[in-house]
Amino acid sequence: MHADDGVDCHVLVIGSGGAGVRAAIEASGYGDVVLVSKTITGKGGCTTMAEGGYNAVLSEQDSCGIHFEDTMKGGAYLNDPELVRILVSESPQRMDDLIRWGAVFDFTEDNKVAQRPFGGQRFPRTCYAGDRTGHEMITTLVERLDGLSVEIFAETTIIDLLKDGDRVIGALALDDKGGLVVIKADSTILATGGGTRVFDISTNSASGTGDGFAIGYRAGAELIDMEMVQFHPTGAVYPYDARGRLVTEAVRGEGGILTNTLGERFMKQYDPERMELSTRDVVARAIATEILNGRGTKNGGVYLDVTHLPREQIESRLPVMLEQFLKFGVDIRTEPMEVAPTAHHVMGGLRITPWCLTTLPGLFACGEVAGGVHGANRLGGNALADTQVFGKRAGEAAGRSEKRIKNVDARQIEVQQERLFCFRKGSASAPVVAKDLQQAMWQGAGIFRNATDLRATLAKVMYLPASDLKAVSARNLPECCTVQNMCLTATLICKSALLRPESRGAHMRTDICQSHDALHSPFSHTYISLKREGIGRAVSR
Ligand code: FUM
Repeated sequence: MHADDGVDCHVLVIGSGGAGVRAAIEASGYGDVVLVSKTITGKGGCTTMAEGGYNAVLSEQDSCGIHFEDTMKGGAYLNDPELVRILVSESPQRMDDLIRWGAVFDFTEDNKVAQRPFGGQRFPRTCYAGDRTGHEMITTLVERLDGLSVEIFAETTIIDLLKDGDRVIGALALDDKGGLVVIKADSTILATGGGTRVFDISTNSASGTGDGFAIGYRAGAELIDMEMVQFHPTGAVYPYDARGRLVTEAVRGEGGILTNTLGERFMKQYDPERMELSTRDVVARAIATEILNGRGTKNGGVYLDVTHLPREQIESRLPVMLEQFLKFGVDIRTEPMEVAPTAHHVMGGLRITPWCLTTLPGLFACGEVAGGVHGANRLGGNALADTQVFGKRAGEAAGRSEKRIKNVDARQIEVQQERLFCFRKGSASAPVVAKDLQQAMWQGAGIFRNATDLRATLAKVMYLPASDLKAVSARNLPECCTVQNMCLTATLICKSALLRPESRGAHMRTDICQSHDALHSPFSHTYISLKREGIGRAVSR
């Protein structure tokens, strides 16, 4: 492989979930785009699995100001206010794009986009397509790629970014046979999604392994708030293989209630006003507390019940839930579901400007891999909106960037060849290392955290044999790179969790006695990069 070989394009988009495909659509208006996907385009990311909905202010009673306040409050005021302002003001236009391109959302009888209530929001502003909203969106977006100047490299794994000095000038990838591919680009967009697969129980698809966090960090980008991991309150608890699978917030949005084994509607104790539609951090901790205190089911969950709702409402608004639970032997029209928290979303990520530029020239980030939009806790429904608003912005900004000559230093390719060669001589099983990592993270860096457990988890994660992984054939090379990314992402989460000496949003430190509330926190973002790590001080509000 020579530095002059390979592909040269204007914009490289890494990741084919909602943000990546939206970015590719936009960037294609400015030049040729290469879209790289670890899986089959649109099938692997989390967008396709997002069930409940897309937040947009569409009704006259609602306003962007209220959506802004709900998002900031839900995010424990750690959100970047400018990013939130952009999210709430542009999300309705991006919703229009989707509908214009053929996405079939549910409509009301008077021909308005139907909206349901979601947690932490004062208006029903979550637009939906039953409970398969993300699937409807990604199908529409992928169809939209047809005829655009976007070349798709499916089943291709990016292993590291290419740089010329500080500037990112593309990436190195492995194709489905383990062959190295050089992709040079004037601008590169990371849209790799999240990384909650570093936890044993997660809603994420198999591709949620934190690749973008690790790739960005290794290239020298700065990441913020990596300790902020959202545990979705309701994941399936059985059968074993389905543990953690998303039980959409739409179930509670439609009126589902949570009870413990004593039959108590326990949210009364935790948030008597908002009850089941409190924010996710609060509901997840409430459920975890009920289970820890012995009021959970023998399968390790609590009950989520919709049996009081009309059958027709369940069948039309929650068809995926109905079908999923029927497969588990539970008819949710007549019996309650059992649910428990599951790792769902990383709020932290690469630091970005309003136009999605990271701290490295030539590198943009959008969607879950970018930090700052959701602060310390994301509102349900804001992620799908985020993919479209910031996907479009990243595509536009990257598209507008200058065309330039890219000088690839042959040494960068050699370093990666050496890395891959080591995997051929390694001895540790990648799946075993991944499992050890996931269990350690679930036990020591989960919903309730303390410094002792975090330090022990960090030590375990750093001690895992990530540099001695074994690839039995060239086809296993991507898996080894992925497991290395998981180890690095987990390290970033643990280190950042230790950097934040307070409880805030999803980050609950049981070892810290705290007198301030989120609004009066003396702290702002944690930051972590190859050059520096620490926590910022809040400017007074
Ligand atoms: O519960 C859900 O349907 C997930 C939605 C989200 O994370 O935004």
